[in-house]
Parts: sequence; C-alpha cells; structure tokens
Amino acid sequence: MVHLSHISKQFGDLRVLKDISFHAPRGKTTVVIGPSGSGKSTLLRCINLLETPDAGEVRIANTAVSFDDQNAKSPFHRRLNRRREILTLRQHTGMVFQGFHLFPHKTILENVMEGPVQVLKQHPDTVRDMALSLLEKVELIDKKDCYPATLSGGQQQRAAIARALGMEPDVLLFDEPTSALDPELEREVLKVIRALVKENNTMIIVTHNLLFAKEIGDLVVFVDGGQIAATGTPVEIFGGHTTKRAGEFIAAMLPPMEYAI
Ligand SMILES: Nc1ncnc2c1ncn2[C@@H]1O[C@H](COP(=O)(O)OP(=O)(O)OP(=O)(O)O)[C@@H](O)[C@H]1O
Ligand SMILES: [Mg+2]
Repeated sequence: MVHLSHISKQFGDLRVLKDISFHAPRGKTTVVIGPSGSGKSTLLRCINLLETPDAGEVRIANTAVSFDDQNAKSPFHRRLNRRREILTLRQHTGMVFQGFHLFPHKTILENVMEGPVQVLKQHPDTVRDMALSLLEKVELIDKKDCYPATLSGGQQQRAAIARALGMEPDVLLFDEPTSALDPELEREVLKVIRALVKENNTMIIVTHNLLFAKEIGDLVVFVDGGQIAATGTPVEIFGGHTTKRAGEFIAAMLPPMEYAI
C-alpha cells in the first residue's frame, strides 16, 4: 500500500533520513518506534509529502512520486505535474498530529466537514451525515457544536481522528497521537485507535508507547539515526530477536516485566 524507496532527506548539513526503504501493507498497522531525533516524524511527513524528500520515491496505492530527477533542470510543466502528483498523493493520506491541529474558529462538526466539502467538493448534506456518524464512532456526538478550545485534549484528538477519517484516506498516519495527553485521556484515544485496527484500516503510527505498539502492531519498524535499524513482527522486535540496538532501545524503554528475551 505505502512504499518508500531509497528516501533521503537532509536539513542543511544534517542527514535526517538515509536511504530509507519500507513497505506498509494494506489493512495492517505498521508501528514506527525509535529514539527522539531519529527521524520518525520526518519519515511520516515524507509519506504525505509535508516534507519533500531529496531523493527516492513515494508510492501510495497507484500514485507514485519520484524525487530522483528533481535536481535536473526542471521545466515549468514538470514542476506543475509534480505539484499535481503531490496533491493527489496527499489525498490518499489522513494525518493525525500530536498537537491535534483543529481549526480553532470552527465547531467540531465543521472541522470534520471542512475537507470533504472544500477539498473533495462533496455535497454538504451528504458530508454532514457522514461527519455525524464519524462523531458517533469517536464518541463525540454531544460535542458536535462545540469549539475545539472547549474540549479536553483527548476529545480534541478524537475529533482530529474523525476529521482524518472524513477524507476516506487509503492510509492513516499518526505522529505520537497520545504523547500530549495524560494517561486517562490517552486511554480514550487508544480505544478509538484500537477500534480502527480491528476494522483493518491501513495505518502507520509513530509512538513512544511501546506497550501499545506491541499490542496493536502487525509490523514494527525501528528507526535509529535516520535509518531503519530493524523491522519485524512485535514478537520478533520485542522478543529481542532482531538487532542488538533495537533490543537495547526496547530494554531501556519498557518496564523489565514486559521485556522477555
Ligand atoms: N524542518 C527542520 N529543519 C531542520 N531540522 C529539522 C527539521 N525537522 C526535523 N529536523 C531535525 O531532524 C532530526 C529528526 O527529527 P524528527 O522530528 O524527524 O525526529 P523524531 O524521531 O520524530 O523525534 P521525536 O521522537 O523527538 O519526535 C532532528 O535532529 C531534528 O532536529
Ligand atoms: Mg517526532
């Protein structure tokens, strides 16, 4: 479903992603873990092209965008085509950020309706029905006419998930969806994500919550120093059956009882 081939990204002199290739399968949950600053957010942002890779190719479903020719002399029409490709590819994705990023001046219902009406040009009446059923799903129907600032962090994050789902993306991307929340609010967001896992959505989730990663991941990707340092099932990764570095990271992050070699 999502294929990255030889993606590299540099900020100034800092090589943040070094020739990353990976595949997130359709209908599965791929969890990305790794130390702070290892490049996880940048990797996720390269998937929906919020960051432009310096090299490599991003493919989602049937849309591929290559960055290998961008240093060549680029005629105007090629740049225009790339812009179209980027927008098409981005429409395949829905992103949920650590900081929610809801529109503050719109109600929760309007937040969910905005993308389908403005971007996908769907009819507001149809979109309203769909948005209301999504708000039922994330247990926020009673908050539909409230503004984001009046909601708790957990409620805002559930609204952000409903908004992402409203675009009917092929893949849902989550960047640390619960790290701004205290444990009780985290639980209610994890419950919603768990339900999405059960529905076999295609998801890529960056998280520091290794217990959750272990529970819901079909595939775990360990990123270290801008490279994929290990990939495997939760049993392989959390059982210490991949690389020494992945084992060290997990041992340092998980309570001892959870780390079984
Ligand atoms: N726009 C930017 N400009 C310059 N440097 C950046 C930019 N974005 C990220 N970086 C740097 O790239 C490196 C990787 O950042 P990234 O946010 O991808 O890490 P991360 O693995 O998501 O970390 P964390 O777990 O703390 O969220 C860091 O050293 C960061 O400072
Ligand atoms: Mg990050």
